[in-house]
Amino acid sequence: MARMIHILNGPNLNLLGKREPEIYGRDTLEDVAQSCATLGDALGLETALYQSNHEGEIVEMIHRAREAASGIIINPAAYTHTSVAILDALNAFEGPVLEVHISNVHKRESFRHHSYVSLRAEGVIAGFGVQGYELALRRIAVLLG
Ligand code: DQA
Repeated sequence: MARMIHILNGPNLNLLGKREPEIYGRDTLEDVAQSCATLGDALGLETALYQSNHEGEIVEMIHRAREAASGIIINPAAYTHTSVAILDALNAFEGPVLEVHISNVHKRESFRHHSYVSLRAEGVIAGFGVQGYELALRRIAVLLG
């Protein structure tokens, strides 16, 4: 059976494709789910993509991944910069965690330069647009061997 990767997304990413397209592009989260599913097939990985606007729900998604996933790719969106709860949940997950940001957060406001999640993540991809999710999937395939 193919190993399962959960791709978790935080607040406002449900609006991807419509929200600030000059920053985040025109692809939707559904497009991301499809391109990751196709690439996952080629890499021998199954993928499931989830999104929530609620911090506690993202914590519970990470708890569910403990039972159901070999690795996590997470774009915590604004919670990246604020959430100790998401960091603690990821610390309780045993597999590889990769952090993705569609935009180059380091080119933006200084409050986006700090990430709690980076204290846990094996790697961070920022500024590659939605292609970052596919790059993270390729990396997680290597990490899982
Ligand atoms: C983001 C960057 C965050 O600073 C921002 O709050 C987001 C999206 C990104 O993918 O570039 O909502 O995580």
